[in-house]
Amino acid sequence: MSFVLPPLPFAPGALAAHGMCQETLELHHGKHHNAYVTALNGLVEKNDALKGKSLEELIRTSYGREDLQPVFNNAGQHWNHSVFWESLSPTGGGIPGVLEKKLTEDFGSVDKFKETFKAAAVGQFGSGWAWLVLTRDGKLKVTKTLNASTPLATGEGKVLLVLDVWEHAYYVDFRNRRPDFIDNFLSKLANYENAAAKLQKT
Ligand code: FE2
Repeated sequence: MSFVLPPLPFAPGALAAHGMCQETLELHHGKHHNAYVTALNGLVEKNDALKGKSLEELIRTSYGREDLQPVFNNAGQHWNHSVFWESLSPTGGGIPGVLEKKLTEDFGSVDKFKETFKAAAVGQFGSGWAWLVLTRDGKLKVTKTLNASTPLATGEGKVLLVLDVWEHAYYVDFRNRRPDFIDNFLSKLANYENAAAKLQKT
């Protein structure tokens, strides 16, 4: 069975008033994400050992394997983008009490969490991702990954929230100003409701 591009959980123009225009989403979802899905299907089709594996299995199987690097890149990017769309919301930015309490416990304050997240997202040299994860010992942690890498492979924790910091994520709206893109995400776009729901499911 082939992998398919998941639909956006909102209309492509729904974030335009909040700093992410329709053109960005049409390119990012319809072209970039779709290209990863198409490439992944092509790679799996050519490799009998990979056929029938779930996306998560493909990511874990190909992680660190030089011979399977293209599989890892495209599988990771498919998974990461799928989680990224869920991390955005037209009504984002508001932090539910349960998450606010946990952020305050583990980072000292919500502002300190945002500072930490921004530092990771700004500091990811080149292409990559910034993440809020829940570690195995029950602590919230901010981390970053390069290119297609993902906490699903590194085992750093359960993903609650992610921001794509590849240039294709922000160049139409913010040009080279990645820090402004990150601030806008944290204050207006981040789907903290979804992050809180994931936190409560643990
Ligand atoms: Fe992306």
